Amino acid sequence: MKNIVLIGFMGVGKGSVAREIVKYSDYIAIDTDDLIESMENRKIKTIFEDEGEKYFRKLEKNIAKWLELSVKNTLISTGGGFYKQENLKKIGTIVLLDSPFDAIIKRIKEHPNAAKKLKKRPLLSDLQAAQKLYKQRQPEYLKLADIVIDVTGKSAKECSKELLKKVKKHV
Ligand code: S3P
Repeated sequence: MKNIVLIGFMGVGKGSVAREIVKYSDYIAIDTDDLIESMENRKIKTIFEDEGEKYFRKLEKNIAKWLELSVKNTLISTGGGFYKQENLKKIGTIVLLDSPFDAIIKRIKEHPNAAKKLKKRPLLSDLQAAQKLYKQRQPEYLKLADIVIDVTGKSAKECSKELLKKVKKHV
């Protein structure tokens, strides 16, 4: 079983879909942001504030190397910028969770924990800049993806079922 690597823009629901998949499969799920936070013993937001984005990207690079060399049979959800890792394709099957920018922002704003979700993501503090980033990243995400799941208007459960079906066919 190859790793499944979930990529996609901030707030698209990578974590929610991963948590759904582990409910009814034997996958162990890990998350690159969670790994970084636990290694650093501080939040992503604090790492950005204290050390800057460049430092954070270096940590992502170290995680990417470790994933390639040491992790198998695992469901890996990633931060929205992790897709830039040069060895991404070597880590596993790349699954893009895809949705238009406005739908992603709507999804976050409608969440009961909306304020917390926005606050923990430094690159969402300026929505205009975030939209620009989305436009720049969108074609890059699509180019890298082995499988694309349009998550717009779907529950995490629906997305997870669709994902596993498509992964089975792909391998
Ligand atoms: C980032 C996305 C975040 C986190 C960091 C940077 C990005 O993860 O890694 O704030 O560059 O898009 P989520 O996609 O889980 O929000």
